[in-house]
Parts: sequence; C-alpha cells; structure tokens
Amino acid sequence: MESISSDVSRTIQTHLVLPPDTNHMGTIFGGTVLAYVDEIAAIAAMKHSRKVVVTASIDRVNFLSSAVVGDILTLEAFVISTGRTSMEVFVKVESENLETAKRTLTTTSILTMVAKDSNGVPVPVPGVIPQTEEERDLFKTAEERKQRRLDIRN
Ligand SMILES: CC(C)(COP(=O)(O)OP(=O)(O)OC[C@H]1O[C@@H](n2cnc3c(N)ncnc32)[C@H](O)[C@@H]1OP(=O)(O)O)[C@@H](O)C(=O)NCCC(=O)NCCS
Repeated sequence: MESISSDVSRTIQTHLVLPPDTNHMGTIFGGTVLAYVDEIAAIAAMKHSRKVVVTASIDRVNFLSSAVVGDILTLEAFVISTGRTSMEVFVKVESENLETAKRTLTTTSILTMVAKDSNGVPVPVPGVIPQTEEERDLFKTAEERKQRRLDIRN
C-alpha cells in the first residue's frame, strides 16, 4: 500500500467553552477535553485510513493550563506514524481568550487508533509521510513509543 502525506489526516476543530463543560470555578472538565481529543484523533485516523477506527490507547495526558468559560478551544490532530493496522495520532489543544486573543497550550496527547473492517478485525493502513520538522521529529521516535506501549499493555 502506498504511503500518504500527513496533510491528508490533518484536522482542526474549535469548540466554545460553555457552562455545562465546566466545574464550579468555571474551568473546563478534563474529561470533556479528553472526549474532544479522542474524537479528533479518530477523525484524523479515519481520514488517513478511510476505515472505521477504535482507540487502542491514550498516552499519559498532562493538563498544563485551564480553559475557562468563554474561551475558544482549538484542537489540531495528524497521524504521526503507522504500524500494520495501527496509527499513532498527535493532538494539540490550545485555549484562546476571547478578548485578548492570547493562546495558551492546554495539553498535547498521543493516541493509538486501530483500523477495523466491518467484522471488527484490524485491517492494514497506508504508511504516512511526515511533512513538517515537528512531524519528522515525532515520526523518528514512534517505534520507541510503540514498544513502550506494548510492554505495558498486559
Ligand atoms: C485495540 C485492539 C484493536 C487490539 O486488538 P488485538 O486483537 O489485540 O489485535 P493486535 O494484537 O493484532 O493489535 C492490532 C494493532 O493494535 C496495536 N495495539 C494493540 N493494543 C495496543 C495498545 N494498548 N496500545 C497501542 N497499540 C495497541 C498493535 O500494536 C497492533 O498494531 P499494528 O498492527 O500496527 O502492529 C482491541 O483490543 C480492541 O478492539 N479494543 C477495544 C477498542 C475500543 O473499543 N476502544 C474504545 C474505548 S472502549
């Protein structure tokens, strides 16, 4: 199968942070951010593979700053690397203050998505050709991360 550019999977989503997404201090729930992260990673992996995908794992997630009610969250995702049936997806989340337009990094995350056929069996996916310096750096270290994940799987 021919490899394809990481541009194919690149996806950007924005969300407005509203009161139901937040705690009594007006800051967003981590679980809400994780749901957004999982969704955009799935979309990026589906665009890359043109298959249904499931989340196999989410690497450790650190929340570096809080988004508050009225902030605009921007998520960006792309496929970093692929195995036979799995795709490693990078997701970056930034919050933007409505009045100042200042953007703050909320979190970054790496997820592994697996492509499946209609019977739920993992199916092969195309390789990925990284385009930017950041993507090439992440691509180079993918095998190491994959090994670490498989070591702690059971
Ligand atoms: C993840 C899952 C597809 C693995 O299936 P499996 O029968 O163990 O299949 P395999 O061992 O052949 O693994 C398939 C691929 O997943 C990768 N994989 C399996 N478990 C993984 C994990 N915990 N983290 C990262 N990658 C994983 C394997 O490395 C393999 O990748 P490759 O084909 O690129 O080499 C399967 O366990 C599953 O469907 N889990 C539920 C997923 C789900 O429903 N998620 C939503 C939230 S519940």
